[in-house]
Amino acid sequence: MTKILFLDQSGKPGGAELCLLDIAKPYQDNCLVGLFAEGTFRQLLEKQQIPVEVLTTKAIEVRKESSLVKGLGSLGQLIPLINRVAALSRNYDLIYANTQKALVVGAIASFISRRPLVYHLHDILSLDHFSATNRRIAVTLANGAALVIANSQASQAAFIAAGGRKDIVEFVYNGFDLALYEHLPNPTAIKQQLGIQEDKFVVGHFSRLSPWKGQHILLEALTRCPEKVTALFVGDALFGEQDYVQQLHAQVAELNLENRVKFLGFRDDVTSLMAACDMVTHTSTVAEPFGRVIVEAMLCGTPVVATSAGGARELVEAGITGWLVAPGDVMELAAAINDCINQPEQSASMARDAKLQATRRFNVAAINQQIAQLLNKVVKT
Ligand code: UDP
Ligand code: GLC
Repeated sequence: MTKILFLDQSGKPGGAELCLLDIAKPYQDNCLVGLFAEGTFRQLLEKQQIPVEVLTTKAIEVRKESSLVKGLGSLGQLIPLINRVAALSRNYDLIYANTQKALVVGAIASFISRRPLVYHLHDILSLDHFSATNRRIAVTLANGAALVIANSQASQAAFIAAGGRKDIVEFVYNGFDLALYEHLPNPTAIKQQLGIQEDKFVVGHFSRLSPWKGQHILLEALTRCPEKVTALFVGDALFGEQDYVQQLHAQVAELNLENRVKFLGFRDDVTSLMAACDMVTHTSTVAEPFGRVIVEAMLCGTPVVATSAGGARELVEAGITGWLVAPGDVMELAAAINDCINQPEQSASMARDAKLQATRRFNVAAINQQIAQLLNKVVKT
């Protein structure tokens, strides 16, 4: 079996990290996950018996959208980390970088130790998400990799459009453990635990609190929905977006929504909570690279509305497996929620089809197989 040194800059469990958890699992006897920060992601890996080490005690700026240039400017500071990774990598067949700063460190270490580099691209390298300089650095380094795995066709296309090499990039969707969705808890019980009356229509939003995830759009849409519509916001500001959190609370007060909104913070029981929702909303205001929460909602059998851009368009078929609305469009979002309320049978039937389709397309066993084949090719060449 291929021996892999995985690298991820984050100590916190964002979508890219949760995806890595599933990818590393089959290699648990033949891998090490090297993190650049302490945090709860380490505990999640340990719980799954995946070997993990925090490789640096130096604080590296790990905000997702922060500048790679700054990172490179402080390259001197990174030298001990790069040396550590280069030395470690000699015991492995390849280096697998899962985030952008892991790419910087992994690319240089791979050059030193002559181990092939694989980069899992979880981002759409567009100017909405990245500065032109950051994008150029990321593409240049990624072009030196043996393989780039893009998390969607949209991420793959943006990579190529930004100058990425066509011949090294493949798209592979995130996989999900279907067993987790076989026995879902009773929605009424969960609603009770949350102190939500049975007759409320619960709209769930599961995402880190960050302006581009568009929680503010759902708040605005609530004012255009019947009183019984209640919103659950599940997730925390993972990468330092405290101003946005305050802005959301101010917006709730301003719109008089105190009795219709709950913020639950970060939860590790997303599946149960999603199963208890009457609808899940995805409201990213710019293209979502993939959108794990959309697939998770489908697997729970909960109707889902997503914004029509990026990877989300590859997950939802409008009118067949869910709703697609224009990013940032409050009216369209409110219309989709009202539709779901007013046409319960049609919504339930769409959710059933979505579950079937998602079960077929995103089975983690099949996806890990696909990744194993790609990695085998890298090691053999
Ligand atoms: N998530 C979680 N707890 C929370 C909020 C989110 O475990 O309180 C998970 C969610 O189930 C999903 C991931 O975090 O698997 C977010 O991934 P997604 O691809 O939707 O967005 P990202 O944050 O990676 O951009
Ligand atoms: C990133 C993206 C998200 C994607 C996740 C897993 O965090 O923002 O869209 O689902 O990675 O690939």
